[in-house]
Amino acid sequence: VGHIDDVQELNKTKISSIPQRFIRDRKERPKVSRINPFCQKTIPVIDLSRLQKGNRDDHGFQSELQQLTDSCEHWGFFQVINHGVDLGLLESIEKVAMDFFMMPLEEKQKYPMNPGTVQGYGQAFVFSEDQKLDWCNMFALGVEPHSIRNPKLWPSKPANFSETLEEYSKEIRKLCKNLLKYIAVSLNLDENVFEEMFGVAVQAARMNYYPACPRPDLVLGLSPHSDGSALTVLQQGKGSSVGLHIFKDNNWIPVQPIPNALVINIGDTIEVLTNGKYKSVEHRAVTHKEKDRLSIVTFYAPSYDVEIGPMAEMVDENNPPKYRRYNHGEYSKNYVTNKLQGKKSLEFAKIPNM
Ligand code: SIN
Ligand code: FE2
Repeated sequence: VGHIDDVQELNKTKISSIPQRFIRDRKERPKVSRINPFCQKTIPVIDLSRLQKGNRDDHGFQSELQQLTDSCEHWGFFQVINHGVDLGLLESIEKVAMDFFMMPLEEKQKYPMNPGTVQGYGQAFVFSEDQKLDWCNMFALGVEPHSIRNPKLWPSKPANFSETLEEYSKEIRKLCKNLLKYIAVSLNLDENVFEEMFGVAVQAARMNYYPACPRPDLVLGLSPHSDGSALTVLQQGKGSSVGLHIFKDNNWIPVQPIPNALVINIGDTIEVLTNGKYKSVEHRAVTHKEKDRLSIVTFYAPSYDVEIGPMAEMVDENNPPKYRRYNHGEYSKNYVTNKLQGKKSLEFAKIPNM
């Protein structure tokens, strides 16, 4: 990605028209003006404290668990409140992320995203000259296990960036383990089933910065896709505009940020493991005319050596396997070497002729 494809740099030149490479085909353009955020369905909210407190036979626990089941089956997305992640840490990660993006381009380019990888600063998932670009700058890092880290990409500036990401990632990891425990319970499975299956889970962080865009109707902040992870945790920057849309019942539904909440979504891996009972839902990001937007995303997935396929408990004569068995490392590799395109990533896992 050269100088002119860096969206922040582009914006500095006070362009009067959007470069062709960012302009979407008509059918892909977001109908931003036609989405009224006040008369829309919104994604469900889960209060994690209600799952953690008290007895599992209590009404409070059972009704929250039912809400979790419905969210995973019908939305693939929910917001979690009382999630236990220190609110000060949510603020600090946002600050260091923003400080990173505000550094001069030369400084950020010390950590370049090399083609075919999704670590470093730049635009991920770009493989050809005629592919449309997203109105977004990204900075992504592998976090756990340490063997997936590229230490050269962990920035020395801004100060505290690395320590903050380290601390933040530890807390988010606990949250993922916790959520997977309740997701297992909601499926009537042993609560440790995912933890035991995943081994030392792979965790990666990606910061997305979407500068304001003079023509939000022509571009996308992030192309439609489902995530390859098991779970994704998404933090939307304070005061950010609505940017995340999820595709449900043939409509793009905007996700209204709730202060201090985290957005959780089911990734392809859970869809495969549950044989399609829980859904990895397509989503995208759009831009705003005046406001920029920041999101901080954590991907949580099995260790690369784990074999994934529909779990025995999720398959019977009425529900034959929809997906084959495969190695998660291969799945991951396939994911990062293809452009983002709706739910296409799951085709890797489909049984032929189904
Ligand atoms: C993502 O799907 O990775 C990010 C979407 C967002 O910025 O809300
Ligand atoms: Fe995503």
